[in-house]
Amino acid sequence: MKRLLLSAVAFAAIGLAPAVAQSPAKVDRALLEATIKSTFKSAPPEWQARAQQDETQRICSETRNSPSTADFEKIKAREIATIVYPPDGNVMGDWKKGESVAQVGTGHQFSDKPGGRIGGNCYACHQLAKKEVSYGTLGPSLAEYGKIRKFSAEENKQAYAKIYNSHSVMPCSNMPRFGANKFLTIEQIKDVTAYLMSPDSPVNK
Ligand code: HEC
Repeated sequence: MKRLLLSAVAFAAIGLAPAVAQSPAKVDRALLEATIKSTFKSAPPEWQARAQQDETQRICSETRNSPSTADFEKIKAREIATIVYPPDGNVMGDWKKGESVAQVGTGHQFSDKPGGRIGGNCYACHQLAKKEVSYGTLGPSLAEYGKIRKFSAEENKQAYAKIYNSHSVMPCSNMPRFGANKFLTIEQIKDVTAYLMSPDSPVNK
């Protein structure tokens, strides 16, 4: 506490104001692309492809996540079109497996052991089950998500769509497009949907 107070005094003394909102620096787009590409030179081809922005990302970057109404609708339509539903229409998998999809933060990284676990790292951004003490707050709390939505079949489908492709619901979301980018499989998305929506899941207790 003492130290905090001291540093507050020091800041006041040298007249440091809180950071002022900065306007984005003008950067040559071609130079930017080339620089990003050059940092991934030794990466496998699928990694290099990931450094290439798609149209949705381009608009979100250029507008700092505030697309025009027309672009908002365009992104939504484009991203909805990517969603693949399970062939039998059942979006609810096994919530117990979904719990580990939500907790595991490894997968698709250079440093991963081949055959290692791949998860959605949902807890990095969301509260889900209330019994979990550690979670990030970039995204809203999802505690009781299914319960609040009365465990309705239509809401289950909506949740699946959101996880498959977050931009299909909220263009320029900070949430990854797990299905559209082939990060999680359809099975994993079903499992984590069940974790979110099942009455038996700790998320709804
Ligand atoms: C990098 C951070 C991040 C990660 C990881 C993440 N999310 Fe999100 N999520 C967000 C943000 C930010 C929002 C709010 C904006 C939006 O709706 O897209 C959100 C919104 C949601 C919503 C909609 C909430 C509402 O108000 O209806 C659901 C459902 C959701 N996330 C589920 C998940 C699940 C399940 C996972 C893991 C598979 C996950 N998220 C991983 C950031 C994240």
